[in-house]
Amino acid sequence: MSGEQQQSAQQYEEKYKGGYGLVYPESHLIRLHRHILEWELHLDSGPVFDFGCGAGAHLKYFLDHGFTPYGCDTSTTAVERCKTLMPEHARNFFVVPPSGSNLLDLAPTGRFAVFLANQVLYYLTDEEIGRIVGQAHSLVRPGGVFVASMMAYSCWYARCVTAEAGDFKRVELVSPRQQETMFINFKNRDELPHLFRPFRRLHIGSYGSHIRDEEGSTDHWLFVGIRD
Ligand SMILES: C[S@@+](CC[C@H](N)C(=O)[O-])C[C@H]1O[C@@H](n2cnc3c(N)ncnc32)[C@H](O)[C@@H]1O
Repeated sequence: MSGEQQQSAQQYEEKYKGGYGLVYPESHLIRLHRHILEWELHLDSGPVFDFGCGAGAHLKYFLDHGFTPYGCDTSTTAVERCKTLMPEHARNFFVVPPSGSNLLDLAPTGRFAVFLANQVLYYLTDEEIGRIVGQAHSLVRPGGVFVASMMAYSCWYARCVTAEAGDFKRVELVSPRQQETMFINFKNRDELPHLFRPFRRLHIGSYGSHIRDEEGSTDHWLFVGIRD
């Protein structure tokens, strides 16, 4: 297993133990729901699988809008928070290892309306991303949707790269707010259709915000694909 992949998972478990984790859904996922799932695809129900679901803010949003939540994360603390937040669906939340997880053992194949991987796949090697995408393709029903974000090189984190480590860049953040070393698998926009094949590309959007002067925009790509 990649040591960088394992290190990222461990760092997140420590963060969750310290109270980290979204309470509210991110605005780009509310827009994804409104602009693509509802308006374009008329999709307003069905099971959603959230890979790297964290403390469950996005699954709770989808639950409140007619979907059934399923999710997994490497952080035991985060998965426990999902169970507390959505107790009636507690059996749908799973702790997985940082690599080699078999999602097909966790949930029924060919049924999911949506597979979501928000701000998680860039902690994985290309090989592991390929494995997860293959499993996502088996979990999603024909016509179902695959949503994944990847960190872009225009994200300010790319200015803090100090070394290469296989598929990852070593990022050393030294802003007044954040002093942290992480390993990120950055991608260009034109790499995404191949990375997320066999899903057919529907949209490649982006999101990001620049709040503190000395930092920069938090640019991410947002890939939306369909299982034909
Ligand atoms: C930036 S957080 C995003 C959490 C959530 N998707 C969200 O949008 O709020 C990254 C998440 O990925 C999880 N994670 C890190 N490495 C992972 C891995 N190898 N497999 C699954 N989840 C992982 C972390 O525990 C953390 O919850």
